[in-house]
Order: sequence, then C-alpha cells, then structure tokens
Amino acid sequence: MKILLTGKTGQVGWELSRTLPGLGELVALGREELNLADPDQIRAQVRKIQPHLIVNAAAYTAVDQAESEAELAFQINGIAPGILAEEALKLGAGLVHYSTDYVFDGQSRTPYNEDDSTAPLGAYGRTKLAGEEAIRRAGVPHLILRTSGVYATRGQNFLLTMQRLAREGKDLRVVNDQVTAPTWCREIAEATRNILAQTGDGTARSLERVAGTYHLSSAGETNWYEFARSIFDFTGLHPKSLTPIPTSQYPTPARRPPYSILSNEKVRAVFGIELPDWKSALRRCLVKGQE
Ligand SMILES: NC(=O)c1ccc[n+]([C@@H]2O[C@H](COP(=O)([O-])OP(=O)(O)OC[C@H]3O[C@@H](n4cnc5c(N)ncnc54)[C@H](OP(=O)(O)O)[C@@H]3O)[C@@H](O)[C@H]2O)c1
Repeated sequence: MKILLTGKTGQVGWELSRTLPGLGELVALGREELNLADPDQIRAQVRKIQPHLIVNAAAYTAVDQAESEAELAFQINGIAPGILAEEALKLGAGLVHYSTDYVFDGQSRTPYNEDDSTAPLGAYGRTKLAGEEAIRRAGVPHLILRTSGVYATRGQNFLLTMQRLAREGKDLRVVNDQVTAPTWCREIAEATRNILAQTGDGTARSLERVAGTYHLSSAGETNWYEFARSIFDFTGLHPKSLTPIPTSQYPTPARRPPYSILSNEKVRAVFGIELPDWKSALRRCLVKGQE
C-alpha cells in the first residue's frame, strides 16, 4: 500500500511518519512539497504520487490567529480536505482526516457523540467543520477522527508552553472552566495505525465498511488549570505561582467551548480502541516523549 501523508512536521504528522511505514510505502510531505493553500498543487501531487490511501494530518491550527486569518484557515481546513477527498475518489483511495472538539459549542454536560449537532464558536472550528462537510460531500470512503487538546514534547502546545513559563519563573493564571481531554499525539498516531491495520489495504473499498466520523481522545476529563498542575507535579518544575481563573478573566480572540469532552464509545465498539486516561498519557509522554 502506498500512503500519502500531509503535515509531516506537525505533532500528529510527525508521529504518523514514524508509525505508518510499517503498513506500506509512505510518502510523507511537508508544506514546501504540498501546500494545502494551493489547490492546483494538491491535485498535481496526488495525481503524481497515486496513493492507495491519503492521511491528512496538516491543518491550520492557530485557534486565535484564525479569527484574523479566517480566509487562509478556510483554504487549508475547509477547502483542501475536499480536494484531497475528490482526488482520492478518482484514484479509488481511502482518506483519513483529523478534526476537532471545537466543532461543538460546549453547551452539553455529557460527552459528545459523533452525530451530535455541531455549532463551532470560532473561525478555527468553523473551518474544520467545513472540511469535514467537504469530505462527506465528495463521497469518498473516509475516516474523520476528531480529537482534542493535542500535545507532544515537540512543536507548539500547552505542555511546552507551561514548561517554558515555569522555567521563566512566571506567575501563571490558567483557566479552570474549560473542560477538555488533552491527548498525546503519539496515541492518536498509534490508534490510527491500529485502525488502518484492521481495515486492510487503505483503499476506498477497504474503508467502506467502517467509513465515517469517530471521536478519538484521551479518556477522562480535566481542565487547563488541572492539566497545568499535573504537568508541574510530574516534572517537578514549578512556576512562581499557579492560580485558577475563569475564562472571563482571560479574554482571547477566539471563543472556546466550555465543555468539549468527546465520547469514545464508537471507536471502542468498532475497532476495540480505547485511549488511556489523560493523566497516565501525560505521565507516559513526559517519560517517553523524546524517544
Ligand atoms: N493541536 C490541537 O490541540 C488539536 C486539537 C484537536 C484537533 N486537532 C487536529 O489534529 C490534526 C493535527 O493537528 P496537530 O496538533 O498535529 O497540528 P500542528 O502540530 O499544528 O501541525 C500542523 C501541520 O500542518 C502543516 N500545515 C499548516 N499549514 C499548511 C499548509 N498551508 N500546507 C501544508 N501543510 C500545512 C504544518 O506545517 P508547518 O510545520 O510547515 O507549519 C504542520 O505540519 C489537525 O487536523 C488539527 O486540526 C488538533
């Protein structure tokens, strides 16, 4: 099987570039080789590479910046996935794509199911939802894997930001009223590989039986303040102070859902996959993340 991976430098993409080769020949591309803001380049690259499977780990992920760059974010998150899907359909290839808990407005108090109503609060969530819809419209057998709070020991994420601010001896105020499930990107990549290993050769036909949207996030729930506290407890690296605050005291350009826990019941029922709870994942990431 020949797999085309986009976003090889990203958190999830980098892990996928290490886990997917076991499944077949991997062609992993970065932005220079495949710019998702350039529809012609997307079509040309897919036609040249002729993959059996496309895994789209690239995305515009700067949630706040998306408010002022909505058009670019829409090109990358909303339009490009649909083009990848159309090209996959022509080749008979399957498509794996990642999406976000930010497609929901966070008014629920129980975990979101895949078919719950979406109502993104910000530009990033709207563009990601548009990407999901474009893939569904294209009609290619696909897996859309929605996840939440992605972190790693490389790249840009909450874990590394907290560690940097602690090292700088800062007084930290972190919101404690956004309930989420931080997810280690390695576990997303390993689960993706596991799913694909169960489906066959990655072609559109092999995905038909299980195609659809799945939630794939750490088990359990927490908030950003508690997550920060666990980071400091586990690493022994503490900021000068750490204070919980409500979101109202930390205004950001983008509004975020107050509750965005995803129910992982479907991915467990269909593929037998259950990610560990967020705390044990964090502990493992801090120990093994550099490997
Ligand atoms: N990060 C989160 O907290 C989070 C939460 C929920 C869902 N997700 C979803 O999970 C998936 C993976 O996210 P991630 O955290 O791994 O993202 P990430 O670390 O921000 O990586 C994004 C990747 O996309 C690439 N990219 C950005 N613009 C591009 C363009 N115009 N053309 C080609 N590539 C481009 C980046 O390349 P450069 O290195 O060149 O910038 C990078 O490789 C995404 O679909 C995201 O929406 C993420």
